[in-house]
Amino acid sequence: MKKIIKNGLIVTASDTYRGDLLIENGVIASIGQQFDETNCEVIDAKGHYIFPGGIDPHTHLDMPFGGTITKDDFETGTIAAAFGGTTTVIDFCLTNKGEPLKNAIKTWHEKAKSKASIDYSFHLMIGEMTDAVLDELPTVIDEEGITSFKVFMAYKNVLQADDETLFRTLVAAKDLGALVMVHAENGDVIDYLTKQALEQGNTDPIYHALTRPPEIEGEATGRASQFTGLANSQLYVVHVSCAQAVEEIAKARKQGINVWGETCPQYLALDQTYLEKPNFEGAKYVWSPPLREKWHQDALWNALRNGDLQTLGSDQCSFDFEGQKELGRGDFTKIPNGGPMIEDRLTILFSEGVKKGRITLNQFVDITSTRIAKLFGLHPKKGTISVGADADLIIFDPNVERTISVKTHHMAVDYNAFEGMNVTGEPISVLCRGEFVVKDKKYVGKQGYGQYLKRAKYNSTLENERNKQVTI
Ligand code: URP
Ligand code: ZN
Ligand code: ZN
Ligand code: ZN
Repeated sequence: MKKIIKNGLIVTASDTYRGDLLIENGVIASIGQQFDETNCEVIDAKGHYIFPGGIDPHTHLDMPFGGTITKDDFETGTIAAAFGGTTTVIDFCLTNKGEPLKNAIKTWHEKAKSKASIDYSFHLMIGEMTDAVLDELPTVIDEEGITSFKVFMAYKNVLQADDETLFRTLVAAKDLGALVMVHAENGDVIDYLTKQALEQGNTDPIYHALTRPPEIEGEATGRASQFTGLANSQLYVVHVSCAQAVEEIAKARKQGINVWGETCPQYLALDQTYLEKPNFEGAKYVWSPPLREKWHQDALWNALRNGDLQTLGSDQCSFDFEGQKELGRGDFTKIPNGGPMIEDRLTILFSEGVKKGRITLNQFVDITSTRIAKLFGLHPKKGTISVGADADLIIFDPNVERTISVKTHHMAVDYNAFEGMNVTGEPISVLCRGEFVVKDKKYVGKQGYGQYLKRAKYNSTLENERNKQVTI
């Protein structure tokens, strides 16, 4: 049945205006006013914003990591995402050295298929750059539509790749039209500092932060950025946590290098003191890179405002406190890294960002959806509200006040990192391709509804635009 969403305030990355949406066959068929309502389901969005559905560019669902497996999988993770206003996730497909990439991709399809309630796509981890890997990449891009590759510069002896691999990935990505993503921390220095801390008997969660100082995130970010310039390629730095990394990205961008930066809600709203919580509770706040001293938050907000950082990912990577985070009692290096974040990504940016005057409403949409769609080859089907785009929409109440809590969240974990935090704003209803996933704050979606998205090559939508201009 056709749907009409009327009386809402439509917000895109560039405009804010009153208009009604006519939805037909999963797409936005028309934007106007006073549509004929015969045979339509009519939704009154008076007093609410209509945002394009959020796109989460950074999730780890059902992922083996740190000797255990993330608690949220594609079932619970995508439901929680939808409650938070996200209608597409791009998850990281991990690969194993020496094994065909296609095996890893198959495994990830199996994890997601028939479980996801919203649309999804994959990034592919590159752990080594051999002839076999190089040979497989064109198929990965053309047949799987995977146009972003992830290189880890940290997690020595586990996921870390060396500089040669990073550089060769950048060169290959340039030729193939892919975007290279990096986890930018110097894994070798971290390895030395963590061993030293343990030798000195420093085993508490706070030492996770103290052995991964911001200087080495800045160093790795600068190194990857300059490699990118040298290869004339393109780079996306995930989970930027500190001023030093922001400075390196800004410097590279001034040099004309194609570097993009993502930060995450935890770095905007939490700080290093959380790692000192008693009774081992600090373990709940172990991320890599770690939470920083509070002053770094200003650098991150400024960068989101002035465009040196462009996106917000959740880095959803959830582990229960009981049974999983506890693996690191007595040795902080054994605490699984990561936290539950998929549900609160938009709320934190809206409440802490828009409501507090740090970013505009249109920047909010760009940072949570539009820019991500453009960078990762999903635009204009995803990431905006325009005729012909998928009807991925959030009906958002900007004024409701509530308190974040594990008691009301939908993630499968036993804590919420923002427990007790008062926030303003909440998605009321969320649609993916014209179907409600969340309606009036209730899950009405279907497992398996989510479709796998093949993505366009880096910048190809821009190229298409240019060609259109020539041929019109
Ligand atoms: O601590 C984190 N960030 N866990 C997830 C894996 C990663 O490095 O993104
Ligand atoms: Zn990472
Ligand atoms: Zn991550
Ligand atoms: Zn309301």
